[in-house]
Amino acid sequence: MTPDVQALFDAAVAAQAKSYSPYSRFKVGAAIRTASGAIFAGCNIENAAYPQGTCAEASAIAMMVSAGERQIAEVLTVCDGDLLGTCCGGCRQKIREFASLTTPIYACGPEGLRHTFTLDELLPYSFGPEHLGI
Ligand code: THU
Repeated sequence: MTPDVQALFDAAVAAQAKSYSPYSRFKVGAAIRTASGAIFAGCNIENAAYPQGTCAEASAIAMMVSAGERQIAEVLTVCDGDLLGTCCGGCRQKIREFASLTTPIYACGPEGLRHTFTLDELLPYSFGPEHLGI
């Protein structure tokens, strides 16, 4: 891992430790580096009314936008287990709003980086702000 990716990983792992996931017991952390170089992290936050839960990526995006930033340069997620954990479909679309098609998305396990994708690989032929003239 480069030092930059390591810093994202550390932020995501710290957020993962804060995960509120009493129902799935599946803790997820996510970290975003913005174009300015700032890092925003988030965890999944579940709810007794299951559909009201929030993914870690969505939490990190909320932190980023609330801080006044809108340009995602890199995303990293971390979760436990042997399977490669990648962003869910909804989170891929949420990232699409603020990223470019070549934005790297690092999928990590507790031991470190497992696979690097571009957003376009995870969400091909996607719909985005430019379709609505933005
Ligand atoms: N989860 C995330 O936080 N991000 C994803 O991209 C996949 C799923 C969370 C949602 C829920 O709290 C738990 O993982 C199990 O689905």
